[in-house]
Amino acid sequence: MDNNFPDFTPAPNQGGNPALYELENAAIDPEGVLWERLRRLADWTGKRILDLGCGSGFWLERYAAQAAKVFGVEPDPSLLPLARARAGGAIVQAGSAEHIPLPDASVDMVHARFAYFFPSTCNDCSAGLAEVLRVLKPGGSLVVIDNDHHNGEFAQLLATSHWATSQGEESYIRDWWAQRDAQRHEVLSVWGFDSAADCESVLRLEFPAAVVDNWVRQHPERRELSYGYVLYHLRRPRADSGF
Ligand SMILES: C[S@@+](CC[C@H](N)C(=O)[O-])C[C@H]1O[C@@H](n2cnc3c(N)ncnc32)[C@H](O)[C@@H]1O
Repeated sequence: MDNNFPDFTPAPNQGGNPALYELENAAIDPEGVLWERLRRLADWTGKRILDLGCGSGFWLERYAAQAAKVFGVEPDPSLLPLARARAGGAIVQAGSAEHIPLPDASVDMVHARFAYFFPSTCNDCSAGLAEVLRVLKPGGSLVVIDNDHHNGEFAQLLATSHWATSQGEESYIRDWWAQRDAQRHEVLSVWGFDSAADCESVLRLEFPAAVVDNWVRQHPERRELSYGYVLYHLRRPRADSGF
């Protein structure tokens, strides 16, 4: 049964317009700065990795090129078929952060890219985190990729949008992870598009019209903008007795 996750939050961007979100994903981090940092924190080469909230599966093949095994878990029944169609050897299953269809201690790492179970989008994200810790092997890592609310031009746009409040108070998110001993890392990268028109279309997917109109007026023909990420990295202790 693919659509049985009442606690998931549909993504207005990817869930609302998967084709346009393809352009957004393709624009992420053209120089590989973010990927390099992810690899340093939790290298998936030869490992078993779960892409939690994998959406349309854009990143599955990239992980599968080096990982021993890739799992994709996604709660949105409209995105699941897209992820399955291009899984690139990954096993894609219906599930959510709160209901991960994998056995205990079965993966070396979990990567969650803008997947909505972290504290900006759930009232109590403890259930999702407990479930992640259950499926991680002792010593395994969770890396959550989130937006930086301060660094980069994307953050400036966020700050001028009512969108920002729906992403949660940055200090609350930071404290929530700190209380769970997660390490916080900032990475400044860019969004790079093939054309200014693509850049504008994706900005219109993410921000209110007035904010984008203003940006386009100030930056005609721009195809690139700086984009700050925050990574939260948490390890399951090697010798814990339960979750
Ligand atoms: C912005 S999209 C990002 C998708 C994908 N990670 C990517 O980078 O292309 C957010 C994703 O989180 C998923 N999501 C929402 N609530 C979730 C939950 N409780 N557990 C896991 N994923 C969730 C959405 O269905 C959507 O696929």
